[in-house]
Amino acid sequence: MNELHQQVLAQLPQCITDRRWLHRHAELSFEERETSDYIERALRAIEGLTLSRPTPTSVMAVLRTERSGRRLAIRADIDALPIQEENELEFRSCHAGVMHACGHDGHAAILLNAVRLLAARRPALCGELRFIFQHAEETPPGGAVEVIRAGVLDNVDEVFGLHLTSTLPTGRFGVRGGVLTSATDRFEIGVSGKGGHSSMPQECVDPIVTGAQIILALQTVLSRSLCPSDAAVLSVCEAHAGSAYNIIPGDMQLIGSVRSYDERVRKTAERRIREICAGVAAAAGAQAQVNYIRGYDSIHNDPALTDWARGLIARTFGSKAVCELSPIAPGDDFCYYDQVCPGFFLELGAANPEKGSDAPHHNARYRLDEDALAYGMEYTVALLSERCRLA
Ligand code: NI
Repeated sequence: MNELHQQVLAQLPQCITDRRWLHRHAELSFEERETSDYIERALRAIEGLTLSRPTPTSVMAVLRTERSGRRLAIRADIDALPIQEENELEFRSCHAGVMHACGHDGHAAILLNAVRLLAARRPALCGELRFIFQHAEETPPGGAVEVIRAGVLDNVDEVFGLHLTSTLPTGRFGVRGGVLTSATDRFEIGVSGKGGHSSMPQECVDPIVTGAQIILALQTVLSRSLCPSDAAVLSVCEAHAGSAYNIIPGDMQLIGSVRSYDERVRKTAERRIREICAGVAAAAGAQAQVNYIRGYDSIHNDPALTDWARGLIARTFGSKAVCELSPIAPGDDFCYYDQVCPGFFLELGAANPEKGSDAPHHNARYRLDEDALAYGMEYTVALLSERCRLA
């Protein structure tokens, strides 16, 4: 057993304690007050760090070394979700209707304890390390844009991050160069017709019939306007209209989402939604208003950094630990970091069906396998200390 592995195992009980405290005190995006105070208090007790608050509920710690070298940043998100927890755990969320159902409690605990281990290795490091505990990943436009605006990435050479996932078993690292996550957009379509008596349709412009035609025509955005190798998904998930069985309503509202992996595809989808709505509505004598709201962009992993990290994972955990991913659907505001400097983000397995840790994310029974915290710490410390090791 090597030295780092032993240090990580010795650190694991503290990491679990931190994770359970954070889990118990789950807080929503932009409201992470107890969470950020806890993290700040813990960081204050570590020697050699400079602390700051980029925003009221985010925390950054900087570890400066004696020698020049790369300036690296690593980010953990810290917010929870509006879900009532259904797990029977002694550390279940004490905030009604708020739950860490995406593993961000684990991300924060991994990074906090990696900082403890890295601070102890400071004499052997060069350059500068920035640890970003970021608020509000779950609620677009998200906390990333705010902390970046506050300067957390100024003069940074490379940025890293990870997400625990119940789609991979504990101990596997999901890796992909280039596009990792989807761009996640929302559209809202308002169809305006002319309401009236159901027995006199000739006096009306029926927005429900027009809306139904729009829903069907939108299915051709993917099948007829994109080339077969372009991946995207479009779903109409809400349709609202009407108030009585004998009244043709005046309006209908349709809401849905588009997920894509390429800016060209994303732009085509938006343009075709607008054209189809305008055309179908005009043919019916109705009007359609389209509001297309861009969510997070795709995460782009730097190819060279990805190759390097893949090698590090294979050296540290064995080549079987590396799992090559296809692009995944969930979005993440880490995308804004890798638009500033080269970045690498991975998916860290935290599923163990034997422990009941295999419910999907954003589910009231989501439960991460705490063994994954050790993998997360060891990866983070190995990554950052190798990336800024003295030559
Ligand atoms: Ni998440």
